[in-house]
Amino acid sequence: MNPPALLNILCYPDPRLHTVAQPVAAVDARIRELIARMFATMHEANGIGLAATQVDVHERLIVIDVSETRDQPMVLINPEIEWASPEKRKGEEGCLSVPGIYDGVERSTAVKVRALDGEGRSRVIEAEGMLAVCIQHEMDHLMGKVFVEYLSPLKRNRIKSKLVKAQREVARV
Ligand code: NI
Repeated sequence: MNPPALLNILCYPDPRLHTVAQPVAAVDARIRELIARMFATMHEANGIGLAATQVDVHERLIVIDVSETRDQPMVLINPEIEWASPEKRKGEEGCLSVPGIYDGVERSTAVKVRALDGEGRSRVIEAEGMLAVCIQHEMDHLMGKVFVEYLSPLKRNRIKSKLVKAQREVARV
């Protein structure tokens, strides 16, 4: 069997990153193939989470693997936050769609999320630490929100110009 084909990751400030995703209608063969390709794409890019929005598929689907051994894949389909801790903490975040940029974002330290898994079964996930942060970051993507939107307009504009310039340089070679 061939390894799953990699997908192209949209890069900020691509306007398609601001698309609001629609619910997944059925966890069928098409979705299972998309999941496999998203995991392959995420691992290739050394990421810990990837939302379908980032590969230009605007459906509510997230893949995550926060383990150091990269063997604890997690699929969240149509995720909904049931509870988020009032306690928040500011932590450094990065994003495969915002290469090379890391900055502090305040997030709830724990969340409880209901979602379908890769087999279409309903699950409740109670997460804290890095997993909680990752879930919140990826769920933002499904709403068309990129983490740099939490930063000041000044910082955000600097990041925008830097990435636009970098992408122009890539296009030139
Ligand atoms: Ni991201």
